[in-house]
Amino acid sequence: MALYALGDLHLSFQVDKSMEAFGDLWHHYVQKIDKYCSRLTADDTLVLAGDHSWGHNLAQCETDLHFIASLPGRKILLRGNHDMFWDAKKTDKLNDLFQGRLYFLQNNFYTYNDYALVGTKGYCYEGKDTIEHFLKIREREVERLRVSFEAARNAGYSKYIMFLHYPPTSIGEFSSPFTEMAEEYGAEHVVYAHCHGRARFGDSYLGEVNGIEYHLVSGDYLGFKPERILR
Ligand SMILES: [Fe+2]
Ligand SMILES: [Fe+2]
Repeated sequence: MALYALGDLHLSFQVDKSMEAFGDLWHHYVQKIDKYCSRLTADDTLVLAGDHSWGHNLAQCETDLHFIASLPGRKILLRGNHDMFWDAKKTDKLNDLFQGRLYFLQNNFYTYNDYALVGTKGYCYEGKDTIEHFLKIREREVERLRVSFEAARNAGYSKYIMFLHYPPTSIGEFSSPFTEMAEEYGAEHVVYAHCHGRARFGDSYLGEVNGIEYHLVSGDYLGFKPERILR
C-alpha cells in the first residue's frame, strides 16, 4: 500500500493531439503510463496532478478518463490548466458520474491513512497574462486551497499532503501564498506538475525547503513513472 503521484498524462485517445511530437521525453508516453501505472496494486492510491486529457469537453475525454479509471488502485484527480472537461463549480457532478472509479479533488479532500490529501490547480506567473489577471486568478486558487485545508482540518486531520497542478512559486519567487499556506498548515509534502521539458524542470522547488518536501511529478520529468510520496 502506497501513495503515488504523477501529472500531465495529456491523453488524446479521441482528439488528434498526441504529445509524441514534443521530443524524446514524450516518446511512447502512453505505453509508458500504461506500463508503469499498471504495476500499482488495488490498495495503492495514485494522485494525478492535472492535464489529464486534450479533449475539449467531457464527451471528448471519455476514452481518456476510462483509460485512467481502468488503472489499478484508487485514482484521485486534480484540475490542470488544460482540463477543459472540468468546470470547478461542477466537481460534485463529476464525482457522482464517476462514483467509485475516479475521485475529483476540488474544494474537498481525500485521505490516506492519517493524512489529508488537499489541493487545487494553483497558479504561477508565466508571462502570458497581465500582473492584475495573474493576481486575480492566483487569489481565487489560494481561496480554493484554503477551503480544501479547512475541510480537512474541520474533519479532525492535522497531517497534510498538498497537491497543485502549477508549480508553487513563479520563476524568481522564493515564496508565494501557496508555499506560505503549506507552511501555515504544516504540510509535509507539496506535489506539483505542469513543468514540461528539461528547461522547465527547475522552475520551482525540488526537495526539502523549510521542512517541506517539494516534488515535481510532471510525466515527462518522471519518465511517466509515478513517484511514491508515502508508503
Ligand atoms: Fe501539462
Ligand atoms: Fe499544465
